[in-house]
Amino acid sequence: MSRENKSLKGKVVVLTGGVGFLGQYFSRLLREVGVVVIVTDVAKEADVIMDVTDQDSIDQGLKEIRQEQGKIDVVINNAAIDPKFDIGAAQNKYEFVNYPEEAMQQSVNVNLLGTWRVCKTAIKIMCEQGFGNIVNVASFYGVTPPRQEIYPTGTEKPVDYPVTKAGVIMLSRHIASQFGRDGIRCNVLAPGGVVREQAKDFQEKYSEHTSLGRMSTPEEVSDALLFLVSDNSRGMTGEVLVVDAGWRSR
Ligand SMILES: NC(=O)c1ccc[n+]([C@@H]2O[C@H](COP(=O)([O-])OP(=O)(O)OC[C@H]3O[C@@H](n4cnc5c(N)ncnc54)[C@H](O)[C@@H]3O)[C@@H](O)[C@H]2O)c1
Repeated sequence: MSRENKSLKGKVVVLTGGVGFLGQYFSRLLREVGVVVIVTDVAKEADVIMDVTDQDSIDQGLKEIRQEQGKIDVVINNAAIDPKFDIGAAQNKYEFVNYPEEAMQQSVNVNLLGTWRVCKTAIKIMCEQGFGNIVNVASFYGVTPPRQEIYPTGTEKPVDYPVTKAGVIMLSRHIASQFGRDGIRCNVLAPGGVVREQAKDFQEKYSEHTSLGRMSTPEEVSDALLFLVSDNSRGMTGEVLVVDAGWRSR
């Protein structure tokens, strides 16, 4: 499938949390179609180290990128923490009623406030430029609650992830509504569970609840991101693009 698109060539795109699993697929695809991608992350492999919990780090990172590149066309807020059940994350062993406040605070700080902080600085720059496009990566769990029965016995999908991702969606609608006339768009990419190294049993249980009978792939999530980054989505703002193989919530 050709992904050629003239509007993408030479666009300067800042990707947060770009060293992670999906981030690597995103940056690879965007580069393939001629986008200048600046990968930011707290991880040392990043082009620019930028910690989304630290406003100074964000201000400095985006300022440097703008000076070097001359503009910032798109910011993709992809950085997040997601205590995945399958790598033995301590959070997943807590029941809802015992969930530690510290874990909730940490998710709010990275997933929700992190996105908000980056948007604040990006919007200042985009208002000066008179154009800009923000894509916030949420999750289908920001739209619909997890089905706890698909998770291994003794674990739960913790509450902090869906709650913070739902917050990212409303933050994006707020921005879209307030800054559209300044030439700024803001949409949400909401992936479903992406197939990786999950246990076969989990993959099967998950897949029973999707219309396509499988999990999502990183490539199809990346294709949807490409659409939101490109001018093909120029008529859209404040929208949530869900790519979840047709998850059936109830
Ligand atoms: N993988 C999935 O199945 C899935 C499904 C739905 C939504 N998502 C969303 O997609 C995005 C990417 O997910 P992923 O699976 O690649 O996760 P990941 O954990 O592999 O990558 C997240 C990246 O964010 C970085 N990060 C964490 N804290 C940071 C901070 N304070 N400042 C800057 N960077 C920070 C990490 O270093 C990491 O590189 C996330 O927003 C996630 O919620 C993923």
